[in-house]
Amino acid sequence: MNINEIKNLKGKRKITMLTAYDYPVAELVDKAGIDMILVGDSLANVVLGLDSTTKVGMPEMLHHTKAVSRAVKNSLLIADMPYNSYQVHPEECVKNAQRFINETGAGAVKLEWFENCLEVTEKIIQAGIPVMGHIGLTPQTVDKIGGFKVQGKDAEAAQCLIQQAIELEKRGCFSIVLECVPDKIAGLISKKIRIPTIGIGAGVHCDGQVLVISDMLGLFTRYTPKFVKKYVDLSALISKAIEDFKNEVIQEKFPDEQHSFGIKEEEFKKIHDN
Ligand code: KIV
Repeated sequence: MNINEIKNLKGKRKITMLTAYDYPVAELVDKAGIDMILVGDSLANVVLGLDSTTKVGMPEMLHHTKAVSRAVKNSLLIADMPYNSYQVHPEECVKNAQRFINETGAGAVKLEWFENCLEVTEKIIQAGIPVMGHIGLTPQTVDKIGGFKVQGKDAEAAQCLIQQAIELEKRGCFSIVLECVPDKIAGLISKKIRIPTIGIGAGVHCDGQVLVISDMLGLFTRYTPKFVKKYVDLSALISKAIEDFKNEVIQEKFPDEQHSFGIKEEEFKKIHDN
């Protein structure tokens, strides 16, 4: 998948995107034919056990994007720029975005909306790096938007989101994530711009959908937002497997013959008889 293929999907079929943070999961996501894989800064919460996405930086994001990249053959790989990697001096932002492209093999970067977002977005795109925007609930600046809640719920706030989307398209973004936005507002935005919108908690009218893989697989259980659909309860399956292992070891049922190595009786005798 490349940028143009993603853009051309708008209006033809819905676009799929999932996060991934490591090689084995990324391999499964890629093989399943998901259009885009995002190494999200949600890494902080769902993999590293931190309480805020602002607590991961360039080293962690580069490290995990490289691991995912090794598995990706077909999907478009997008690296989430971490907090303080693009809210800094514009030249620094471009350098950081370039590191994702040059060092990890990502095909694009994603930036959350913030006050100087348009200037920074423009600079990165001018440097030849495709940018995905992210508006609505932006966890990196959650204190500035009144907390983890649905955004654009009154006419004025909704108008502001629509304007942000229009401006991001003008600056050259190839797609925009809409997080926690009322479905009708997401629908309106999707109609107003020509680039695809990818929703998370933004209803069915978006051009595509993204979920955090650890949420949809039931691997991350500390909290589950309303918009998450759990397609499988992996934490229950994993707990059961760990419990089975523990019991079998204690009861000396594991390892059995099938999982052990033998030696010829005559060889064994030679040592045993000594
Ligand atoms: O970090 C992340 O996983 C994200 C998605 C929620 C879009 O930004």
